[in-house]
Amino acid sequence: MTDQEKNSVTPAAENTRQSEKAQKIQKINGVRGMNDLLPADAAAWAHLEHVLRDLTRAYGYEFLRTPIVEATAVFQRGIGEVTDIVEKEMYSFEDRLNGEQLTLRPEGTAAVVRSVVENNLLYEGPKRLWYTGPMFRHERPQRGRYRQFHQFGIEALGFAGPDIDAEIILMGQRLWDELGLIGVRLEINSLGQANERAEHRTALLSYFEKNHTQLDEDSQRRLLSNPLRILDSKNPVMQELIEGAPKLLDFLGAESLQHFEAVQALLKANNIPCKINPRLVRGLDYYNLTVFEWITEELGAQGTIAGGGRYDPLIERMGGKAAPACGWAMGMERVLELMKVSGSLPEPLAQCDAFVLHQGGETLTAALIVAERLRSAGIDVILFCPPDGQIASFKSQMKKADMSGATYAIIIGPDELAANEVQIKNLRTSGEQRTVSLDSVVDAIIDAIVGA
Ligand code: HAM
Repeated sequence: MTDQEKNSVTPAAENTRQSEKAQKIQKINGVRGMNDLLPADAAAWAHLEHVLRDLTRAYGYEFLRTPIVEATAVFQRGIGEVTDIVEKEMYSFEDRLNGEQLTLRPEGTAAVVRSVVENNLLYEGPKRLWYTGPMFRHERPQRGRYRQFHQFGIEALGFAGPDIDAEIILMGQRLWDELGLIGVRLEINSLGQANERAEHRTALLSYFEKNHTQLDEDSQRRLLSNPLRILDSKNPVMQELIEGAPKLLDFLGAESLQHFEAVQALLKANNIPCKINPRLVRGLDYYNLTVFEWITEELGAQGTIAGGGRYDPLIERMGGKAAPACGWAMGMERVLELMKVSGSLPEPLAQCDAFVLHQGGETLTAALIVAERLRSAGIDVILFCPPDGQIASFKSQMKKADMSGATYAIIIGPDELAANEVQIKNLRTSGEQRTVSLDSVVDAIIDAIVGA
């Protein structure tokens, strides 16, 4: 475009050009159902993580961090092909560079077992492991249900007895108590062993086939693939039919019943109330014997804050030497939401202990040195840095100091610097202010913090 042409651009053409430019640099949003954890929520997350670390230590659990991406086969084989997660919720893709079939982990258990088998972690005997991190499921996002969410989970591998089932449940109860959660109830069931489920399945099939016309579309599909999951249906019109269906508990043999009763007796001895829910089947295929969920009515439709159970067949199914195991996982977002409803979220943390104000030039040099000396003494400090490069008045800096949550403002102006001094102002009391020498500022702040 020549200068002459440029000058002859009409206002309308200029507007079009501007709007084209605006379109080109439209903002890019996050992926639906995958949330940022914002600074305002950081204190709550840090508190929860802290409590979880103490809890796992109290019960002798070791931390295991597995990758976020696994071979798709880990979950297909681990969770089971005929489950909602594997059928329709996994983020699976082919690695373009080498053709590998990969999946963003939808849960932790199958990945933990993959790692335990691969690294031969049961070589020296049973292991208690814990993990935490993001999980991915392509579900319809709503309150409490996200496409990226965070789980905390524990897995006790190599233990066969009902004692460990009871202990992991006690651990959950202790956690809810420590987090101050209200309105959480425990539901428990036994899925028996494979042969018992097979007998139940035959009875279930003939019951649902007899009542075929009353099944909804989803349940008709499940009738052939996984009839047990029909019991899990939330569809109100199917509830009466489900209520009358043969109960798995009636098909359990003596050993399975004994295990289930022992778990219940141990819970009772520890004053843990629980409700037996014969319809509790869980959405993953690796379970046997004990299964359980912690549920609340306080969070709307997504009220299951945690769930788990025994999964004795899984280690062998994943290529390891057969060994029993059990565990559970909780949704951290749901637990934090319930802490909010329960009024037990911690106060947001102050960003720092001290905020250093200055007037640029030599006062900035002195302020930087003072801030570094304070940090070396373990004091958290924010140094005023003007957003536009222009030094601001002490009045506007003081507003920022106040907003930071700092207890002390340390003021270094030209007059103070000339006298080799600083002013310390307490922002949380009546605003009392005193002058100390530059050399003694660290001691003065420490004394004030210790004395407070
Ligand atoms: P799960 O029941 O699929 O079990 O998930 C455990 C918890 O993760 C749920 O109770 C829920 O709080 C949370 N959760 C699941 N999906 C979502 C979602 N889309 N958005 C937010 N939170 C969600 C398991 O994952 C098993 N691995 C548990 C286990 C461990 N069993 C034995 N060991």
